[in-house]
Amino acid sequence: MSKKLIIVGGGPGGYVAAIRAAQLGAEVHLIEKKNVGGVCLNVGCIPTKALLHVAESYQAVLEGKSIGITVDNVKLDWQTVLNYKKKVVDRLVKGVEGLLKANRVSVHRGHAVLQGPDRVEINGKKLSADSIVLAVGSEPARLYFPGSNLPGVIDSTAALSLEYIPESMIILGGGVIGVEFAVMYSNFGCKVTIVEMLPGILAGVDSEIVEQFHTELTRKGITVLTGARLTEVMQAGSKLSAHIEISGKKLETITAEKILVAVGRKPRTKEMGLEETGITVEHGRVVVDKLFRTSVSSIYAIGDCSSNMMLAHVASAQGIAAVEHALGHKPSYFGNIIPACIYTSPEIASVGVTEEQARAKGIECKTGVFQLSGNAKAIIESKGCGMIKIVVGSKYGEIIGVHIYGPRATDLIAEAALAMRLEATVDELISTIHAHPTVGEAMPEAALAVDGLAIHWPPGMNK
Ligand code: NAI
Repeated sequence: MSKKLIIVGGGPGGYVAAIRAAQLGAEVHLIEKKNVGGVCLNVGCIPTKALLHVAESYQAVLEGKSIGITVDNVKLDWQTVLNYKKKVVDRLVKGVEGLLKANRVSVHRGHAVLQGPDRVEINGKKLSADSIVLAVGSEPARLYFPGSNLPGVIDSTAALSLEYIPESMIILGGGVIGVEFAVMYSNFGCKVTIVEMLPGILAGVDSEIVEQFHTELTRKGITVLTGARLTEVMQAGSKLSAHIEISGKKLETITAEKILVAVGRKPRTKEMGLEETGITVEHGRVVVDKLFRTSVSSIYAIGDCSSNMMLAHVASAQGIAAVEHALGHKPSYFGNIIPACIYTSPEIASVGVTEEQARAKGIECKTGVFQLSGNAKAIIESKGCGMIKIVVGSKYGEIIGVHIYGPRATDLIAEAALAMRLEATVDELISTIHAHPTVGEAMPEAALAVDGLAIHWPPGMNK
């Protein structure tokens, strides 16, 4: 008899887990209260990237004069932009629904509450299974400050469906969401100010990349305030007036039409009967072991609700591993090789440790940096802005981190992730012939730069 599995949450963690479980012959029940696809597909990665694509295309037309494209009266039809974003989302949601149906996954609409180690209740109906997988995701972290309830103070979900492009916006938080929206709205013509409380934006990203990126944001006209704290927001006519404290002293007042709060996300753990069922939740996150089992061994938790890396592809990989284990298979999950991407223009992507993290961990390492001003395709596509940095172990030359800032970074990072998965050394990367002209050629160049031997960079300057 086939095993029965309940999956709570139909995001990229839950729906992927459901399909994998069905492939392995299980009877699968997926419970979702909204659309399948979760935050990522409906109000996260996908609609954001659709809008970023439009914003970048629009900016390319505006800046086209320098490459011979002159268009008079360039206009942005915001309603059509929003319709395009909706069409992309609807198409993908339908696609996921179709895949679930084709895999004979039963989808139940409603809010699931755990009733024990093998049971959930949904709309008054009880459903039992051999194993349960919680894939319930996360939600934007709320920040309370005087004025935080004013209508112009919005979160990232609302920022995807504004009725018009605001003339000005303050973005609170210079993390991944903050910089993606900053670049997007700036490209749409909005005056953006980022307010970040830490000394720098994009904590955890390679510091040389952040420095170059910061310069690019400034070039675009985006104001970046670091070591800054928003203390109060007041209505000022149709705008909002924000008081900002910088380095604990200087007070600045900035007015803007909208204030986007992007200060992180928090796991969803409430009102689902977790603690009543005996599931340990610590610091607001479901605690799991290496096989994604919670403190109740028949219940697994994957993705944002339990992982400290809140990324769709992490949730999918964990979901696959969890159901494989639940169904008696040996899962393989490589949680130390996780690519992370930031969809700015140009893009940022990384995998493995940064130079700073390696040194902090006491890992003996060397680095190779190749500036993309030495790469033909990057010069063609983005004026040569960006760089690739490779971090390698000193003894064996194994690749332990790759950090890319430049065009196509989010696609290029896959090569780096595979190289790390195969435990490749810097020599193996160098001896892999890369096509010309591609931005990817900069990868072996960065590897060569570890010993100061990059071809397209003057000797003595590439170390
Ligand atoms: P984040 O944790 O990346 O950044 C939040 C930023 O807000 C931090 O720099 C923090 O120092 C700052 N901050 C916190 N409180 C503040 C305050 N009171 N005043 C000023 N600054 C403050 O969180 P973010 O950007 O909201 O993203 C949430 C999650 O979603 C992340 O885990 C991220 O990985 C994920 N995500 C991933 C994307 C991708 O893969 N491209 C895109 C968007 C989100």
